[in-house]
Amino acid sequence: MTDVNNTSIVIKGGTILDQRGEQVGDVRIEGGVITEVGPSLTGDRVLDASGCMVSPGFVDLHVHLREPGREESETVETGSRAAALGGFTAVVAMPNTEPPHDSVSVVQMVRRLGEQAGLCEVLPSGCITIGRAGEVLAPMAELAAAGVHIFTDDGTGVQDPLLMRRALEYAKSLGILLAQHCEVSRLTEGAVMHEGGCCSRLGVPGWPSVAEELMVFRDIELSRLTGAPIHFLHLSTAKSVDLVRAAKAEGLLVTAEAAPHHFTLTDELLSGFDPIFKVNPPLRELTDVIAVRQGLADGTIDAIATDHAPHPPELKEMPLDQAPPGMLGLETSLALSITELGLPLQQVVGLLSWKPAAIAGVAERHGRALEVGAPANITVFDPNLAWTVSSSALASKSRNTPYAGRSVRGKVRHTVFGGNPVVVDGQAQR
Ligand code: DOR
Repeated sequence: MTDVNNTSIVIKGGTILDQRGEQVGDVRIEGGVITEVGPSLTGDRVLDASGCMVSPGFVDLHVHLREPGREESETVETGSRAAALGGFTAVVAMPNTEPPHDSVSVVQMVRRLGEQAGLCEVLPSGCITIGRAGEVLAPMAELAAAGVHIFTDDGTGVQDPLLMRRALEYAKSLGILLAQHCEVSRLTEGAVMHEGGCCSRLGVPGWPSVAEELMVFRDIELSRLTGAPIHFLHLSTAKSVDLVRAAKAEGLLVTAEAAPHHFTLTDELLSGFDPIFKVNPPLRELTDVIAVRQGLADGTIDAIATDHAPHPPELKEMPLDQAPPGMLGLETSLALSITELGLPLQQVVGLLSWKPAAIAGVAERHGRALEVGAPANITVFDPNLAWTVSSSALASKSRNTPYAGRSVRGKVRHTVFGGNPVVVDGQAQR
């Protein structure tokens, strides 16, 4: 958001798509904000949007940027570039770095690295417990005072129910949001893939659905007890979706996200023992995939979040039981959502933009309707453009996409972040 000068930019010839509906029109940007919306606008610089939708920028609630500590996999800069190319103007950075996000200094460093890259807003999450070890609460008040809104131990769930209760009580008083990675770790020790028919045939240790569902159930009840909101990360099973649906019907303060791989891929892909398909929570069965899609369609699941988890080839090419879980997501999320969900485009964009923006607490800056005065965080995408995913063409530092060779539809053309065109005609500008 640093380079904005007095040049006016016009996004021309597209269809504006936001929470109010669709409208043909141009958008003029000056000084980082939208200054005019209407027909036949002129400006110093024109971004052609013909055939494209012009929407509020996307917000990803769940990315692993790996810095500090695992820069061979990704850095804040390379991850931000992948995000911008995927149409994201803000991303929530997960805390499982080395050191983790359990101190103000680490959080401030990650935020500063994001500002230096200048490709999207990097919103560091904070740890719920020190070292994500599940034993002692992190300094949540201090982290909240430093601007952190989402707290999670992602990569692991908080196992101790009393600690989780206390964390929710603090969260309520601080006005922050806890986001749970739902996994009862005693039930997943040594697990390699979803526990089901495919896993039995392969004879490898399984990750039972109930390991996720028990924690979803527990935390719904702890949210009810404490009155604090809870967000569920990467839901993957049919029963988890049902539990969240029932909690919402009761009016509880529950939100949830799902990752593209959980609505596009099944556990059968592991039958060749290829670690590219290993992820936590694991790819599940077709009934689960259908349930996640249904949850996205009926509003039970509030947001699509990528769980972008870069790993270098030397780790992802290890045997299935040793390879780390995780797959890339930032550059394929929009296309998979358009191609696979069969939902109206406005609903897809809501799941990628204004709904996650509200959960992340950044709705003032991101996901806002494209009207005069709104900050210019904007994504321009062609919903019909067909392309084939190629791992070597990705901007991420890692290559671990499970979608290489897959034909998809829908591509980001331009991304404007803080008034700066950071992606133009599909090319990152920095
Ligand atoms: O597959 C995953 N990878 N799930 C997680 O929860 C963590 C992530 C990672 O950090 O690689």
